[in-house]
Amino acid sequence: MIKLKPPMGWNTWNTFAEKIDEKLIMESADAMVENGLLEAGYEYLVIDDCWSEHHRDEKNRLIASKEKFPHGMKYIADYIHSKGLLFGIYSCAGNMTCAGFPGSFEYEYIDAKTFAEYGVDFLKYDYCYKPIETPGHLLYKRMGNALANCGRDILFNACSWGYDDTENWIKTTNSNMWRSTGDISDCWASIHNIHTQQLRFQAFNSINCFNDMDMLVVGMNGNGHVGLTGCSFEEYKTHFSLWAILNSPLIIGCDIRNMSDDTKKILLNKSVIAINQDKSCRQPFLIGAHPWPDDNEDYVWVKMLENGDLAIGIFNMGETDTNIKFSLFDLGLGRVTGKTLLLTELWTNETELIKNEVVMKNVKAHNCKIYRGKIVDNNV
Ligand code: GAL
Repeated sequence: MIKLKPPMGWNTWNTFAEKIDEKLIMESADAMVENGLLEAGYEYLVIDDCWSEHHRDEKNRLIASKEKFPHGMKYIADYIHSKGLLFGIYSCAGNMTCAGFPGSFEYEYIDAKTFAEYGVDFLKYDYCYKPIETPGHLLYKRMGNALANCGRDILFNACSWGYDDTENWIKTTNSNMWRSTGDISDCWASIHNIHTQQLRFQAFNSINCFNDMDMLVVGMNGNGHVGLTGCSFEEYKTHFSLWAILNSPLIIGCDIRNMSDDTKKILLNKSVIAINQDKSCRQPFLIGAHPWPDDNEDYVWVKMLENGDLAIGIFNMGETDTNIKFSLFDLGLGRVTGKTLLLTELWTNETELIKNEVVMKNVKAHNCKIYRGKIVDNNV
């Protein structure tokens, strides 16, 4: 499997955890199509932990829970595929999954074969109950080899939460995306914390092995398994903009059968998604007065885009409204170049031709502005 853009989809965990069944999955598949998510690029429907029985069969194969999935996983996969979606499933590199179901350790080839028979297109692979004598890179190599030889193209989503210096070995393992942070919860502090954890990992993010900042909490509004206080509309916008510009996979975690208009406005913003899915997939970089975090909570993230435009996200992660500034010089557009920027803000669609070397923007606490900047002649 070669993955050239951050994967996009929906996953059961954030909202439903163990409360999953055939009906939920089929309704969610319908919702992905009917609500325009598939059309916007969200193509993987991923069933997370808790889908199997607690024991294997007589040939050591995993068995789908008879109660939750009475028709089995092939039936689910066929339904998902009939909708034009791709099917993701979950297992774990250890002896058990995090919720205590059978893990794939020592059963990697049997499980990869089972997944291929089901019609799986994506495997999320967790790190709980890891045998201590086997290093993480070997656990992921085992399953990476098994998947690459199972006869089906299956995206490999490593989920070792950045533990054991994952960034140093993950690209050796056939993984297409890797969890570079701990688990998200539905509150501003968690979004803030994951962004901070992510700062030192940008150089490791690449095509075919994307840094995964965990599933989105947009639209959870405090409901479901990782639902805590919930976030405001503006905070969810900031969350989505950050994940987008930092090239994280965009995997939705709310109940997509019941999305509010505000939630749809965020998750279906095609201009912001286009920044995330940009073909050249360049590493984002920080500019501004404080290019590396100290006690400053303003961040100006920039990403060069395939058509010559620049994506510029200005983020106020702090608690007070503030003026965030950036200079054209730091973007490679100093005065001598004779060039400036025509900015389009991707949440409001407002456009603006930049007239001064230094751009100053008032940004409220927990808020952001995200622009696509076109480089144009500076006749002003
Ligand atoms: C965690 C993982 C979560 C979810 C959960 C399932 O380790 O980070 O995303 O998959 O396990 O038990």
